[in-house]
Amino acid sequence: MEYRALGRTGVQVSRLCFGTMSFGGDADEATSRALFARCRDAGINFFDCADVYAGGKSEQLLGKFMAGARDELVIATKAHFGTGPAPTSRGSTRYHLVRAVEASLKRLNTDRIDILYLHHFDANTALDDSLKSLELLLQQGKISYPAASNFSAWQTMRALGIAERRGYAPLACLQPMYNLAKRQAEVEILPMAIEMGLGVCSYSPLAGGLLTGKYTAAAAGGFSGAEGRLVSNTMYQARYGDRLNHEIAAGLGALARELGHHPASVAVAWVASHPGITAPILGARNLEQLEPSLKALDVPMTAELRERISKLSPTPPPAHDRSEEKR
Ligand SMILES: NC(=O)c1ccc[n+]([C@@H]2O[C@H](COP(=O)([O-])OP(=O)(O)OC[C@H]3O[C@@H](n4cnc5c(N)ncnc54)[C@H](OP(=O)(O)O)[C@@H]3O)[C@@H](O)[C@H]2O)c1
Repeated sequence: MEYRALGRTGVQVSRLCFGTMSFGGDADEATSRALFARCRDAGINFFDCADVYAGGKSEQLLGKFMAGARDELVIATKAHFGTGPAPTSRGSTRYHLVRAVEASLKRLNTDRIDILYLHHFDANTALDDSLKSLELLLQQGKISYPAASNFSAWQTMRALGIAERRGYAPLACLQPMYNLAKRQAEVEILPMAIEMGLGVCSYSPLAGGLLTGKYTAAAAGGFSGAEGRLVSNTMYQARYGDRLNHEIAAGLGALARELGHHPASVAVAWVASHPGITAPILGARNLEQLEPSLKALDVPMTAELRERISKLSPTPPPAHDRSEEKR
C-alpha cells in the first residue's frame, strides 16, 4: 500500500480509503468485519463513515472492529443530515453539531474523531457559526481536523477565509463525488484543492456500481441484468440511469477487457490518478466486490492511459468561458 500526506495535515493516509456505508446495512456484521479485516490486510489505515449510515450501526460496527488498533487508524465521520425526527436534529448548527459529535464518539467508542466532515453545505446556518462549532470541538479534543463534503469551490473558499480571519483550524480535506461519469470536481474543486493544499477523499469511484460492468442497458433506457443500487434505489437510478452513463460504462468495460483488468480496478485507478486526489473512497457490500477495487493501484495508470479513459466521457465545460480560448 502507498501512503500520502492528507493535504497539509501531514497525516499519512493510505492511497485507498474504505467507506463503511455498507456496514450494518447491505453488509451484515460478519461480512462488515471481514471487509474491515481485508482492508487492514491490504494496508488501508483510512476509514470513512457518517453518523447517518445504517442509522448509526455503521459507526457502531466500525468502533467495534477498530478497537485495539485505534492509534494506527485515521477515522473520518460526518454530521449534518437528520439523525432523528426532531427539526433540531439536523443541519450544521452549533446546536446539532455538538450533539452529533457526542453521539458519534459514543457509537465509535473512541475519545476523538480524526476527521469530521460537514456532510453538506447548510444554507440556513451562518457558516461562521458552523466553523466556530468545529473549532470548539477541536479545542475540546473531540475532533482533530475539520473537513467538508459536498461543498462547492466558493463555499470551501469562504470557509477557508473565515477560518483564517478568526484563527480557526482550516478545513483539512474535502469529500466531493468524483468518477468517470461525474466529473464536475475537475472544473473548480480539484484545482482549488491543489492550490490551497487541501486533501481530497472523493466518493463513489464506481458511480454506485455503474462502472463495474455488471449492468446492461434495458430497452427503456434504465438498467437491468444485475442486483444493486442502480436497479433498487431511485436516487441512484436518477443519478446514473441515462443512456450516456450506460455508454460510458460500456466503453470502460471494453477498455478494461483490452487491458486485462476488472473495470472496477480501472475506474478506481482513474480517479486516484488525478493529481488532486489523495484517496478515492471504496465501497463494497462483500469481499468479492472489494477485491477488484483493492487492485486499482496495480493498474499502470500512465498519463496516456488516463487521457484515453477520460475520452470515454464528456469533459465538463471550463469554469469560465474565456478559458475555452487558446492563448
Ligand atoms: N459524502 C457523501 O455524501 C458520500 C456519498 C456516498 C458515499 N460516500 C462514501 O464513499 C464510500 C463509497 O461510496 P459508494 O459506495 O457510492 O462507492 P462506489 O464505488 O461508487 O459504489 C460502490 C458500490 O458499487 C457496487 N460494487 C462495488 N464493487 C463491485 C463489484 N466488484 N462488482 C459489482 N458491484 C460492485 C456495490 O453496490 P451494489 O452491490 O448495490 O451494486 C458497492 O456498494 C461510502 O461507503 C461512503 O463512505 C460519501
